[in-house]
Amino acid sequence: MNHMFARLSLLGVAAALAALGTAHAADLKKGEDLVNQGGCIACHGAGLDKPVSPTYPIIAGQPESYLFHAMQQYQAKHQTPLYGRDNPIMAGMVARFDTQQLHDIAAYVSSLKSPLYEPDKARDPRP
Ligand code: HEC
Repeated sequence: MNHMFARLSLLGVAAALAALGTAHAADLKKGEDLVNQGGCIACHGAGLDKPVSPTYPIIAGQPESYLFHAMQQYQAKHQTPLYGRDNPIMAGMVARFDTQQLHDIAAYVSSLKSPLYEPDKARDPRP
């Protein structure tokens, strides 16, 4: 009986992971639309690489997972004071987006050309 239960739980975990995998496929075009509608260029600049203030970050071309987690952390501040980034401006900017939209935005912003660095393609293990 215990064996059966363990096997069923494993199946459940596998199914959940498979569902996560498909749900997280990011859509660049949707990300672009959300960025345009979201008014992000007002502060991060056209191309998201020319912030209007030197104290605002360049977000274009930063790693996708970094951008995604940064935005999630601005949202998380509402849920728990112990986790997350405490920034009233960005908390307001990302409050309306769901997880899938954050993935779409992160993928699009990451795809933009950045003045920060040129990725070393020869050392990049990704295809
Ligand atoms: C009113 C100005 C303003 C607007 C509009 C704005 N941002 Fe920001 N953004 C900031 C500031 C200021 C920070 C730095 C906050 C901090 O210190 O954590 C920031 C930080 C970020 C970061 C984290 C960057 C890093 O290097 O950690 C991301 C990602 C981001 N913004 C995405 C967006 C997106 C996407 C939009 C549009 C939906 C947007 N921002 C709109 C001002 C703005």
